[in-house]
Amino acid sequence: MKKIFAANWKLFKTPAETRSFFSKFKEVVGQATGEVVFFPSAISLEAAVETTKGSAIKIGSQNCYVQAQGAFTGENSAQVVKEIGGTYILIGHSERRAIFGETDALIADKVAFVQSLGLTPMLCIGETLAEREATHTFRVLETQLHLGLAKADKSKPIVVAYEPVWAIGTGKVATPAQVAETHTDVHSILTKLGFTAPILYGGSVKPDNAGELIKQAHVSGFLVGGASLEVDSFIKIATV
Ligand code: PGA
Repeated sequence: MKKIFAANWKLFKTPAETRSFFSKFKEVVGQATGEVVFFPSAISLEAAVETTKGSAIKIGSQNCYVQAQGAFTGENSAQVVKEIGGTYILIGHSERRAIFGETDALIADKVAFVQSLGLTPMLCIGETLAEREATHTFRVLETQLHLGLAKADKSKPIVVAYEPVWAIGTGKVATPAQVAETHTDVHSILTKLGFTAPILYGGSVKPDNAGELIKQAHVSGFLVGGASLEVDSFIKIATV
């Protein structure tokens, strides 16, 4: 399975900061050992696409609505992402689920809609600390995959990002053993559901833990937040 290194910029970086990042990152992206994808915030998307034109860097948006256009004030259109040259859409990130109330049913519609446009959904799943401590991790991930992929097309590309909620932005990375065990579970759930997809790990990935994590079973790359905001730290992660 090819490796994918994805950067989730959340609500960081203005268009000017985006241009300045990519003018430097374009110089080093050739060293990456897999595909490199960036998810800038919506208003910086066009700056990202323009500055990375002609390079191997892929761009996507962090969210979209389930229709291309209409009376949906404040939403983002995947059709527009496609038109400006984006190829991925992040779906169901834990911040979308927890802060903006996204349900598995809405996430399933988004996955199907994104695929119908020929874009690749990157579906995020992950358990909270309470769920892990109650030994419900497997059940939570199985439910999120079962419901989130309910309308997905098995013949079209999809990427899954496993991000334990307790490891996101906390500096508390899952141990290599936890990553190996959980990715093996995610792989087996996907196989049972009939899907083949790269499984990325996310949650406090840094240059000093990426080398060990990439060696674990069924880890095809990373979804990186904080450490993707600087050229130096992200390229170190993308070259493991
Ligand atoms: P983090 O974020 O790397 O800052 O923990 C990961 C994510 O939210 O995708």
